[in-house]
Order: sequence, then C-alpha cells, then structure tokens
Amino acid sequence: MIDTPEIRKMYLDLLRKHLTRFGDDDLVAVHAANRPLVRRVLNMLAKRNIKLVREVPFDERKRTLGLDWPGAAESMIGMQRLTSLQHCAETVLAENIPGDLVECGVWRGGACILMRAVLAAYGDENRNVWVTDSFAGVPPPDKEKYPADENLRLDLQSYVLAVSESTVRNNFERYGLLDDRVRFLVGWFKDTLRDAPIDHISLLRLDGDLYESTSQALNALYPRLSNGGFCIIDDYHAINACRQAVTDYRKQHDAFGQIIEIDGTGVFWRKLLSNMPLSGLRAEMTQQSTQRPTPHRPIRFAQPRGETGRVRMTEAAIRVSHCRVCGANDWVPVVVSFGPMPRTAFADGLQDTVAWYAGNRDWWEPLKRPAGPRTEAELATSKGQAR
Ligand SMILES: C[S@@+](CC[C@H](N)C(=O)[O-])C[C@H]1O[C@@H](n2cnc3c(N)ncnc32)[C@H](O)[C@@H]1O
Repeated sequence: MIDTPEIRKMYLDLLRKHLTRFGDDDLVAVHAANRPLVRRVLNMLAKRNIKLVREVPFDERKRTLGLDWPGAAESMIGMQRLTSLQHCAETVLAENIPGDLVECGVWRGGACILMRAVLAAYGDENRNVWVTDSFAGVPPPDKEKYPADENLRLDLQSYVLAVSESTVRNNFERYGLLDDRVRFLVGWFKDTLRDAPIDHISLLRLDGDLYESTSQALNALYPRLSNGGFCIIDDYHAINACRQAVTDYRKQHDAFGQIIEIDGTGVFWRKLLSNMPLSGLRAEMTQQSTQRPTPHRPIRFAQPRGETGRVRMTEAAIRVSHCRVCGANDWVPVVVSFGPMPRTAFADGLQDTVAWYAGNRDWWEPLKRPAGPRTEAELATSKGQAR
C-alpha cells in the first residue's frame, strides 16, 4: 500500500504537470491585434465557432522555465516556479506561518489552483486563497506616476492576458478545488488591494508585471505578511520595471530576508522582522556556530541530491561570535537554503582537493618525473609487469 505522503506527492506532481501541460504539444490561437483585416476574418470565423490555431511543439526548456505563453495551460509560470511555489506553501504549513495565501495577477488561475491544492492535500481547513486580478488584462502605462512603465504596452496584449473571472472559476472547478475558501478580488489593484478584507498573509505572490502593479501590491499587502512569510516576485528578472518597484520598496522599508533565485526569472524572499527572529532552528544554529570558529561561513548545508527546480529554504537567527572582519557578536538573520546546490561549496572542494594531494604524494610525485631512466625499484616493477 502506498502511504499518504507518497500519494500527496504524486497528486501534486501530476497537478503541476497538468497545470503547465508539461510534455504536450500546444495549439496557440492566432491573433491579429495590429492587422484589422485579418482580425475581421478571425472574428467572422469565431462567429461560426472556428478558431485559427498554430501548432507549437513541446519545448521542455521553455515550459520548465516559464518562457512562453501556453495555449491551453492554466499557468504560464512554468514548472520550476510552480515547484518552488509548492515548496513555499508547504513550508508555510510546516512552520505554521499565520495567514492566507494571495496571488496578485492570476491570468487563468494555475498558480492559485496549485496553492489551493496544497492546502487540500495537507488537510488545512482554515486558510483562504485570494485570487486578485482585473480579469481584464494589464492596465495601460501611467507614465506620469510610474515612468518605469512607459514602454510596457502589455495592455495591448489583452487578447491573451485578459481572462474572465468565470473562466478562472471554471478552471478551479475542473480540478475540484472551487469552494468558499477561494476568494476573488475583482478589479484594478489600485482599487481593490488597499481595503481588501485580508488580515494576515503567509504567502504573497506578485505577478502583475508592471512597476505600478508591483508597487501597489507591495504597499497594500506587504505590511500584512507575517514574520517568516514568503514574498514571491514572478517577473523580477524578466521586467526591469517590476524589479525597480521591488528595489524601491525594499529601500524604503525593512523586514526583508535575502533574495533567493528560483529559475532565472522569478525570485522570493521571506519577511524577517529583526526584533522577532524565527525560533525553529535557533538551538541548532547555536550549536553549529559554537562548533565552527569561522562565523561568516557557519552554515553550509546542501541537500545531497538536489532536484531541479526544488528550492526549499528556511531562515534562522545565528550567533556571529567575534567576527574578525566586522567585530560582530550578535544574533543575525541568515538564510539557509536546501535545494539545487552543489554537494560541496567551491572553496571547500578546493581545500579538500589540495589536502588530498598533500596526503597522497606517493601517487602523484612519480608522475611529475621526466620520462627516462627510473629508480631501480621502479624498473624492476615495470619489467615484472611487462613479462
Ligand atoms: C502574467 S499574468 C499572471 C500569470 C499567472 N500568475 C500564472 O500563473 O500564469 C499577469 C496578470 O496580472 C493582471 N494584472 C496586471 N496588472 C494588474 C493590475 N494593476 N490590476 C489588476 N490586475 C492586473 C493581468 O490581468 C494578468 O492576469
């Protein structure tokens, strides 16, 4: 018989594969935003229930890294960011971080569906998943207020990016995950988020692309993120304006853990209130740091078999004792990340290698000798082998 954790893992793995249509060739609708004549033809065909589609073969790299806009999948963020999202949600449950799970910018709802599935799979009966979107696409750039958005005309792509609320509800229903703990906030972030009836947030996922959308969501919701809660920025490396909004917000506020890379596009960090260190690993860390006299490299955990896309991290307070560099002697927050990391840090690997060579001189020294006459003992051995 298969045990529950294994079944849960199989369910969530399968769900992620389906939400991304991993492995499937795609049929992507043909659009003609800038070609009025073609658009008229497409509209005429649509009235007869005929849709023009392009066949796109499955591209593993793109679907892993969320680099395309899929025709059928419920999420465009790709397998790696979905996997990371699942691990963040699982950590919230394992560490009992208080609050609901929120996504700002949901498109067809896939990432929210996964979050609801994680709650269901682990038997959580209290938390809500908030699904917040205009359900009408991205707003046009407001270049007076948000100059960074000036050239971002994602509003012109609403034929792909605008997905109605009813479509998203249907998508939840298709997976059997629509209930009253899936809460919809419909409208522009500037109108909906500030007074949203959400008390505490344990996971905040921002995927609104623009400076405007990112900063409105951070301003309205980051203060409600619990200590240890996750803040995930989907487009940090893909859209400069989005990254700028994050940088500006982080400059003006505090309580941020270190930024962790997910897949070259998305990042996340954990909220960390300096006066409230996370308690879970404290004792263990104290032990670690007293065992190791080099305080700036006290933690070098690596999962022996890192799985692609699997990022599991946690934070802790460690005691930096009498650092020779900065003189610190205090508790400081650090990030410990378990995931796709090398088994050994480069510097350690180098040290080990040098130590190995130092301890095995008899192996390498003969190799350095120029070819030619050898010692008598060596000659005797090699002759013996030749015979
Ligand atoms: C890239 S899509 C989100 C992708 C989605 N997270 C997924 O899993 O595939 C961006 C979404 O953000 C929404 N959006 C962007 N800016 C917004 C704003 N200011 N107010 C409301 N919705 C916004 C768009 O309607 C769109 O659905």
